[in-house]
Amino acid sequence: SYEKLWLIAALLLIVGFIATITYGSVGLGIAMIDDSEDTVNPGSLDEDFGEPRVEHVGENEYEAYVIAQTFTYRPDPIEVPADSEVTFYVTSRDVIHSFSVVGTNVNTMVIPGEVSSMTVEFDDPGEYGIVCNEYCGDFHHTMEGQLHVV
Ligand code: CUA
Repeated sequence: SYEKLWLIAALLLIVGFIATITYGSVGLGIAMIDDSEDTVNPGSLDEDFGEPRVEHVGENEYEAYVIAQTFTYRPDPIEVPADSEVTFYVTSRDVIHSFSVVGTNVNTMVIPGEVSSMTVEFDDPGEYGIVCNEYCGDFHHTMEGQLHVV
């Protein structure tokens, strides 16, 4: 009957979606675990956030503090080991940017005075480009960085 056909078509679609999502994360050796945004007081941003850096916080666990500012990301490159879990904390020092890792589902808006955070699992070594998807000025199109999983 038609009803059965529709049901099968719907199931195939769902399987397709799941396959796409799985390929997008696991297939590339990158899996997003958590994606949230915390707001910090802009006045105390420097104190809370500190310098751009990668910190080793536990066995296979790292925290990357990334600052976006026209038209760069710091640190650059961001270097993390393979087989690790990395929580990125990203903020902007001027206007709205984004932090988007090419070819992965890591993609977040970066807003001055706020800290975007996301936790990502890196299985395999690789080199990824970081680009800005939010128009941020004349050289927006040149704003890029590197993420090295070593
Ligand atoms: Cu930063 Cu566009």
